Amino acid sequence: MTGSRTFKIAAIPADGVGREVVAAGREVLDALAAGSGGAFGFDWQEFGWGCEYYARTGRMMAEDGLAVLKGFDAIYFGAVGWPGVPDHISLWGLRLAICQNFDQWANVRPVRFLPGVPSPLRRADVTDLDWVVVRENSEGEYAGLGGRNLSGRGPGSEVAVQSALFTEVGCERIMRFAFDLARTRTRRKVSSVTKSNAQQYGMVLWDDVFRRVARDYPDVETESVLVDAMSAKFVLRPEDLSVVVASNLHADILSDLGSALAGSLGLAASANLNPERRFPSMFEPVHGSAPDIAGQGLANPIGAVGSAAMMLDHLGLPRPAARIRAAIEATTAAGVLTRDVGGTAATDDVTKALIDELRLP
Ligand SMILES: NC(=O)c1ccc[n+]([C@@H]2O[C@H](COP(=O)([O-])OP(=O)(O)OC[C@H]3O[C@@H](n4cnc5c(N)ncnc54)[C@H](O)[C@@H]3O)[C@@H](O)[C@H]2O)c1
Repeated sequence: MTGSRTFKIAAIPADGVGREVVAAGREVLDALAAGSGGAFGFDWQEFGWGCEYYARTGRMMAEDGLAVLKGFDAIYFGAVGWPGVPDHISLWGLRLAICQNFDQWANVRPVRFLPGVPSPLRRADVTDLDWVVVRENSEGEYAGLGGRNLSGRGPGSEVAVQSALFTEVGCERIMRFAFDLARTRTRRKVSSVTKSNAQQYGMVLWDDVFRRVARDYPDVETESVLVDAMSAKFVLRPEDLSVVVASNLHADILSDLGSALAGSLGLAASANLNPERRFPSMFEPVHGSAPDIAGQGLANPIGAVGSAAMMLDHLGLPRPAARIRAAIEATTAAGVLTRDVGGTAATDDVTKALIDELRLP
């Protein structure tokens, strides 16, 4: 990168631990910018949207929220959801509203095993494990298609339909994204997750598109695995995974399993990308608002800080991004760990250690 660049970032901490981990991520990014010798900086604007905003206004975000966000280089998101507001209202009103309207169709969720973090997988002690879940993020089971009480049969007899939408265009673009990503990795392999034995329309289309796209990538190994078998494979043969491409729901579940295998949900980073860059992309930890530990300084900030590194990659700052990842590894290797990964450090302790490990001039 030449010259100095200031990136306009919209911060949306939203609810629960989202606020704690976004604050931590901002501290790390600001420290990095301050140590960059003026090479880059961040112009932050924070939006107080979320469940409290909903309680005051009846909306999860401002009415012109999407129009306002459109002018930013990226969105840095915490987590949404709080007891008292139904989860489908909070999720659709904020996070999904942004993902879907900004066509952030590729959700990239790396599963990283960190030094010093105990994994429930015995083989993690002796095997290098590292894979990425690529989630179709615009349609599938989360297309929002369906209805309730269609027949009006009365109390106790209600009917609900929730349909999944699979389009050839939607399947093809996420699969090409997965294959292109596989070409950047040591192991060039894409595993497609399916359920075409039981779901004979959408998932059979998914499989057909996968086979067709694979023909354009003869240098990339492929496999197609049923989602139930893939859950077992995550536990029993994770060394055989490199890029895992899956539908919205399947990848949502499998990426939580992956981060739990790596030691905690609090470690997992993610990027919701609009690869064409017509809209800002959004970077957020995989975890939710964790009401059980919110406000107690117990939240692990590593998922959010890792998401900040993904944001830097997207903004064209790969070296600062690599610096953050190295700081994460040094911090966990030194045993500065929050409670969820077996330590006693508070969110602030880990954040401070991360900043120290950036080893800025
Ligand atoms: N992307 C999102 O905004 C998102 C994702 C998932 C769930 N949610 C919402 O979050 C709320 C709570 O959902 P949930 O309990 O199913 O999932 P959750 O991810 O909030 O919590 C699951 C478990 O992981 C732990 N955990 C999560 N983040 C952690 C962190 N940073 N450090 C340490 N431990 C952490 C929690 O303490 C809890 O035990 C709900 O309202 C749900 O709808 C939001």
